[in-house]
Amino acid sequence: MNKKDSYMKIIAVISQKGGSGKTTLALHLAVATAAAGKNTAIIDLDPQASATKWSDRREAELPVVISAHASRLPNEIQRIKDAGCEILFLDTAPHSDSAALEAAKIADVVLVPCRPAIMDMEAITNTLDLIRTKNAAIYVVMNATSAQGQEAKEAIEAIAQLEVSVCPIQLVNRVAFSRSIITGQTAQEIEPSGKAAKEISDLHLFMCAHMNKCNTKSEEKGNHVKQIRQRA
Ligand SMILES: Nc1ncnc2c1ncn2[C@@H]1O[C@H](COP(=O)(O)OP(=O)(O)OP(=O)(O)O)[C@@H](O)[C@H]1O
Ligand SMILES: [Mg+2]
Repeated sequence: MNKKDSYMKIIAVISQKGGSGKTTLALHLAVATAAAGKNTAIIDLDPQASATKWSDRREAELPVVISAHASRLPNEIQRIKDAGCEILFLDTAPHSDSAALEAAKIADVVLVPCRPAIMDMEAITNTLDLIRTKNAAIYVVMNATSAQGQEAKEAIEAIAQLEVSVCPIQLVNRVAFSRSIITGQTAQEIEPSGKAAKEISDLHLFMCAHMNKCNTKSEEKGNHVKQIRQRA
């Protein structure tokens, strides 16, 4: 099959609230997607470049991460698609309407991480107003919840009033999520049998169910990396 004719799925992680878990979610899901055999890339649209710096600390080659400005997004997406990427994650900046809007326009799925805290809950309305009119499927992902789950339960009830889907998988506040990032890894890599790894695996499966076989193995695994990095 001509790679240019292949269909690349795009998952944007968007939240206007700083620190809600956008980068954590994008990196963990991208690693899970690459481990499942898909040619995976991340475009880091955040000037803070957290995902890009994570990639610099990372020993493993996959997933490939490039940093880009939102104004270059259509060109970069075409280039990455031509290189044979199958699943692309967009990590976006907080407080950035234009970049979030560009990402939402282009995405097939938008994930909105949200902590079960009052400031996150207040900010989510702004995020949804910004992205709601686009074609992407939108899921709020409760992040950094307590293991007991009471506050997340109340938050989910409040979010349900906003007429948006809440992902049935939550990420609990776990040290593995934050500690793994320091060494350019993810929770499932430092603690493969841990609870954080299970949550990411469940979230990945949920995402695949909504994106038509994103966990089937690619025949040309990894060929995209060199081509994407050449001009990054
Ligand atoms: N489920 C979790 N458990 C533990 N720590 C978490 C979890 N999710 C995120 N964190 C930590 O919270 C902090 C903020 O997370 P992250 O950088 O992913 O948020 P962000 O939305 O990308 O932030 P920004 O808006 O600044 O880009 C980081 O230190 C991260 O390690
Ligand atoms: Mg971030």
